[in-house]
Amino acid sequence: MPNGRNRNSTFDAGDMADWYPPLMIGAEELGTRILQPTLRAEALALLERLTPDAYTTYIAAFLREGERRYGANWRYADIVTVLLELARTLQPAAYLEIGVRRGRSAAAVAKQAPACAIIGFDLWQAGYAGIENPGPDFVRDELRRLGHQGTLELVSGNSHRTVPEYLVSHPNARFDLIVVDGDHSAEGARQDLLDVLPRLNVGGAIVFDDVDHPAHPELRAVWRDIVADRPDMSAWQFDGVGYGVAFALRRHG
Ligand SMILES: C[S@@+](CC[C@H](N)C(=O)[O-])C[C@H]1O[C@@H](n2cnc3c(N)ncnc32)[C@H](O)[C@@H]1O
Repeated sequence: MPNGRNRNSTFDAGDMADWYPPLMIGAEELGTRILQPTLRAEALALLERLTPDAYTTYIAAFLREGERRYGANWRYADIVTVLLELARTLQPAAYLEIGVRRGRSAAAVAKQAPACAIIGFDLWQAGYAGIENPGPDFVRDELRRLGHQGTLELVSGNSHRTVPEYLVSHPNARFDLIVVDGDHSAEGARQDLLDVLPRLNVGGAIVFDDVDHPAHPELRAVWRDIVADRPDMSAWQFDGVGYGVAFALRRHG
């Protein structure tokens, strides 16, 4: 059962009194790293290892063209570049994801933290975004092929039922990294964020996709109201190119 502890982003003061909250790196600094060209190269390499679909093929071409036109100073981030950096830095022991689809975002975490325990929730909406959404066996094969060795639990059904049920039956479950990328309605996304936020470890990160998606303009305010404006969170957002992505680190309990 996931009951993660964050190992790298907190500070053990030993015999000294704790003055600061334990987080030692802020979201702004991680955001700067996410915008480095090396992250885009890593994302491209990962996309090329996944079973291709129309979306990953498009994103890979977009990354190559952005690099060709604008070079090292190009500013671009998405859920994959964000997760590659967060998973590398945080080395999550436990990862929770709402909205798995074909396993692209989970693959970014699995690549950086192969021993991580992963739990994912999806109702595998047929033809999501016009692309085949094959379900748990496909995701299982995809992650195994990428070298994931930790436990993998995939829960099928509507997250508004399955996630609360899971959390009630696992009262001690805590996560170092959480992604909310399932129901994109304002009320649905808001509910998912509210459900999982109390289970985020201090020093851990929550990621929210599509904060600048033309079809979901209300997600920006949902993120701000539920997560980014909280005084216990250090938040970062990328928008202006693509569909936008945001994350926040929990600074204290
Ligand atoms: C945007 S995709 C996830 C993409 C994935 N995180 C990635 O980066 O490749 C959204 C997924 O959420 C699922 N979904 C939508 N509404 C849901 C709900 N209420 N409960 C569970 N899953 C849901 C869809 O089936 C779809 O697979």
